[in-house]
Amino acid sequence: MTGSGGWETALVKAKRFVSKLTLEEKSWMATGQPGPCVGNVLPIPRLNFSGLCLQNGPQCVQQGDYSSVFVSGVSAAASWDRQLLYDRGNAMAKEHKAKGSHVILGPIGGPLGRSPYDSRTWEGFAVDPYLTGVCMEETINGMQDAGVQANAKHFIANEQETQRNPSYAPDANETTYIQDSVSANIDDRTLHEIYMWPFANAVRAKVASAMCSYNRVNGSHSCQNSYLLNHLLKGELGFQGYVMSDWGATHSGVASVESGMDMSMPGGFTLYGEEWTEGSFLGKNLTSAVKNGTVEVSRLNDMIVRIMTPYFWLGQEKNYPSVDASVGPLNVDSAPDTWLYDWKFTGETNRDVRANHSAMIREHGASSTVLLKNERNALPLRKPRNIVIAGNDAGPLTQGPNLQANFEYGHLAGSSGSGSCRFTYLSTPLDAINTRARKDGSLVQFYLNNTLLATEALTSPLWIPQQPDVCLVFLKSFAAEGEDRTSLDLDWNGNAVAEAVANHCNNTVVITNSGGVNVMPFADHPNVTAILAQHYAGEESGNAIADVLYGDVNPSGKLPYVIAYNESDYNAPLTTAVETNGTWDWQSWFDEELEVGYRYFDAHNISVRYEFGFGLSYTTFDLKNLKAKDSTPANLTALPAKRA
Ligand code: BGC
Repeated sequence: MTGSGGWETALVKAKRFVSKLTLEEKSWMATGQPGPCVGNVLPIPRLNFSGLCLQNGPQCVQQGDYSSVFVSGVSAAASWDRQLLYDRGNAMAKEHKAKGSHVILGPIGGPLGRSPYDSRTWEGFAVDPYLTGVCMEETINGMQDAGVQANAKHFIANEQETQRNPSYAPDANETTYIQDSVSANIDDRTLHEIYMWPFANAVRAKVASAMCSYNRVNGSHSCQNSYLLNHLLKGELGFQGYVMSDWGATHSGVASVESGMDMSMPGGFTLYGEEWTEGSFLGKNLTSAVKNGTVEVSRLNDMIVRIMTPYFWLGQEKNYPSVDASVGPLNVDSAPDTWLYDWKFTGETNRDVRANHSAMIREHGASSTVLLKNERNALPLRKPRNIVIAGNDAGPLTQGPNLQANFEYGHLAGSSGSGSCRFTYLSTPLDAINTRARKDGSLVQFYLNNTLLATEALTSPLWIPQQPDVCLVFLKSFAAEGEDRTSLDLDWNGNAVAEAVANHCNNTVVITNSGGVNVMPFADHPNVTAILAQHYAGEESGNAIADVLYGDVNPSGKLPYVIAYNESDYNAPLTTAVETNGTWDWQSWFDEELEVGYRYFDAHNISVRYEFGFGLSYTTFDLKNLKAKDSTPANLTALPAKRA
């Protein structure tokens, strides 16, 4: 590490800091401890170092009461708007900083979405390395300009949740694998051109840290894969920051350290199967390894210098806000009764960090909405007199502010897992449209029960006494960390609801709130006049969609993935249901090589319903005499900045 590319002064400070540390302090700085944040590096009071607080996540402060819920990654990507991505990252980081987080566990450069069944693509951006790379760059710039370290995760080829971690035998100390985690087996060109590009751009944006992933790559765990970490990330890409493990993705001490991992998280506790067991591969084990000569002290120094350089570069040693005590009890990774260190809290608790971000979130929600179909001038709405709102996605949350499951009733504007958020309020389509309708004097009838909608309700004489001017159908699909999707259909019988409403209402507009791809058989129904994909749009979701429906905002979002006609049209299925029981039987062969996302459809000339980049607006364009200018910089190089 040389600090090249702008970190030179910070590197000097980091080296000075590290020179004052004892061997034990260095070993403990390389590992986490249970504490108030999702990841915690212990304070060293004698050096005025108050520790590091690492927090999820990519859409909000996961443990933040009185904090905002921004649009999700996939929504932001659908805007194709650099400024939006920067502003979102910047505002989110300001909230993190005010709550005391030093490191945000995001943004997400992978999963990229090799398969649409991967359930975390909404946390990330687009099924395209270049677009995802731009999203990474702008988000990182936004976050780090606010003084918070960003973390590019999950490095690399983390393209499925199924068997992302090993399964363990239930023996006394649960250290024996029944089966190891899935191995993404991938050729070098594909690794570089598809999966590594977003991380390359993250490194170029000077991302402070990277997170090695749960899966194995070509047979070795990502966090002890020297080719990935030492050669590609730190070597080829010239990454100057530190590599932290995903939570429980460390499977060795010396091997991981020698392979380029610099910090083990959550550290003090190690994940075996479903259990967190006390102990770390690093910590005192690392002290012993250095003492007995297995690990050179220069490597340990390099680890801590890498951790501390971005800290000094961002000025985090100066007047950084303390950790808000209120995050601790909301932390599911290490509950207060597991804390070993006596954490001290200063400053206000339950800080309200939202500022005026809701106005921006509303704009972002509208700017990232993708208009897929608009026939017979269905949209924008022109003061319709008689409106039907249908679907279980239209109304208020019925299972609390922190979405943790595929709940039936309620609007889906975020999802669960480490990327989940706590809503302080949620603008729902039902609220927002009712508010508009009241101004217009419209009649609004709403039907939120999908089962009823798909079956008897529509044939009952109570249904729609007269033909409505428009039926707005809100449907959703849930995707979240830990379990891949099994279907690309809308949940809760959504396709049938869309068809049933369209059978009775000749101006049916379908709005989807999903983490990614839905196949949309109802798109062919002649009464489905318009379709909008809004994804997970954050706390202002309802107002944002009303702004688009009523034409206050002209839709400009474009799909960051392909919507095919059939589920079976997609390639690269996930590796599931391995029926043999060998330790290393979970092998996922990335045989499609470069044919990821639209590249596959193009290569095989497969027609799609809505292509990558598709999105309508209310304006018609007439472009003539277009000229393109080659603006490739003259000094373009594939190499990172020279290291001194
Ligand atoms: C996820 C990471 C997350 C970490 C900490 C892991 O399970 O894969 O994305 O940052 O947990 O919550």
